[in-house]
Amino acid sequence: MSPLVDVAASSDVPQGTALRVELGDTPIALVNVDGDIHAVHDTCTHARESLAAGWVDDDRIECPRHGAVFSVRDGSALTPPATLPLPTYTVEQRDGRVLVDPMPSRPHPLDP
Ligand code: FES
Repeated sequence: MSPLVDVAASSDVPQGTALRVELGDTPIALVNVDGDIHAVHDTCTHARESLAAGWVDDDRIECPRHGAVFSVRDGSALTPPATLPLPTYTVEQRDGRVLVDPMPSRPHPLDP
């Protein structure tokens, strides 16, 4: 695990919402599922839309552009038109802050 990076206050991500943050050059979507905050790459694997601008339903986030749905737990693409999974990131909440491991679970499939 890489050193964790403080990216937001936990209170910035209310339950059932997503917040876009920058982790270096990488956009990350933080998603609060019943008080647990998950982190996935913010860039949709279909056509690069920002997922944090979409809709959260339990542990899924829907892309606002063409409606692909992803699991925020493991990054899997659950509905078309996306077919490729998102990178995910390990999250810890400590003293009201959200800390993210900058090492992704996998590369973003649209990165060169
Ligand atoms: S850009 Fe996300 S579904 Fe097309």
